[in-house]
Amino acid sequence: ADYEMILTERHGAAAVIRLNRPQALNALCDQLMDELARALRAFDADDSVSAIVLTGSDKAFAAGADIREMQPRSWPGTHRHDFIAPWEAVLGVQKPVIAAVAGFALGGGCEVAMMCDILLAADTAKFGQPEIKLGILPGAGGSQRLTHAIGKSKAMEMVLTGRMMDAAEAERCGLVARVVPAAELMDQAVALAQKIGELSAPAVAMAKEAVNASFELPLREGVRLERRLFLSLFGTEDQKEGMAAFNEKRKPLFRRG
Ligand code: HXC
Repeated sequence: ADYEMILTERHGAAAVIRLNRPQALNALCDQLMDELARALRAFDADDSVSAIVLTGSDKAFAAGADIREMQPRSWPGTHRHDFIAPWEAVLGVQKPVIAAVAGFALGGGCEVAMMCDILLAADTAKFGQPEIKLGILPGAGGSQRLTHAIGKSKAMEMVLTGRMMDAAEAERCGLVARVVPAAELMDQAVALAQKIGELSAPAVAMAKEAVNASFELPLREGVRLERRLFLSLFGTEDQKEGMAAFNEKRKPLFRRG
């Protein structure tokens, strides 16, 4: 496809999208976010893809929204033309999206990583919401998702001071699933995506939907949604196959797509 600021690769059922604007530490300008949205939609629609890995460079996952592009923006222009709206494409993906973060994940970069389903961090990763130092605040969900992930006091400290946290602290406070040596980051992220790809696609999509619902629904509604999704999976061949394979002491063979 005709992308200038991202690269895409396939590793079997795993698709990789690499943010590739090295001269600006992958600053998330409108064009980059438009390309990212298009690539995510294309992989989500491709039945041969089971999960998507989103990554950047060794130095930066992304150093935030593009400050040069934002500087002249004014209100109410920003109200009429909400430049953050296209970022929500990350949230619209049905398949699992794994953020593989090395180096800086700051501001909008941290926010995009937090929109993903699983965060894997290299030991070089640095997370932060430095917007306050620019006279703004996080605008792509950071004040909400960081607080959900690490709790109020630490989120407040991060958002009010703009300080960065390293990979070890991010793992300790639950922001990332795990930390791996930088040299192994992509292998581990792709292996994780492929492992998910061996499972039942409808079960994976519904499990993602159920976990995500816990951020938006009251407990009672979330449990109700979970129950409906759970029961509906008894209509799939994959449920019959998964349980038959267990009972016959063999590996299940789930259908793709
Ligand atoms: C535009 C950026 C950028 C950004 C880095 N660059 N971050 N350009 N927007 N967010 C550019 C620099 O201007 C520089 O370009 C080049 O990338 C290399 O950066 P350096 O600063 O020279 O690198 P270094 O000294 O290693 O410092 C790395 C850094 C620093 C600590 C990450 O670049 C930095 O603080 N960046 C800004 C981080 C930030 O404030 N992010 C939040 C943005 S607001 P030149 O041309 O000079 O070589 C935001 C709001 C999101 O994200 C809300 C939703 C939209």
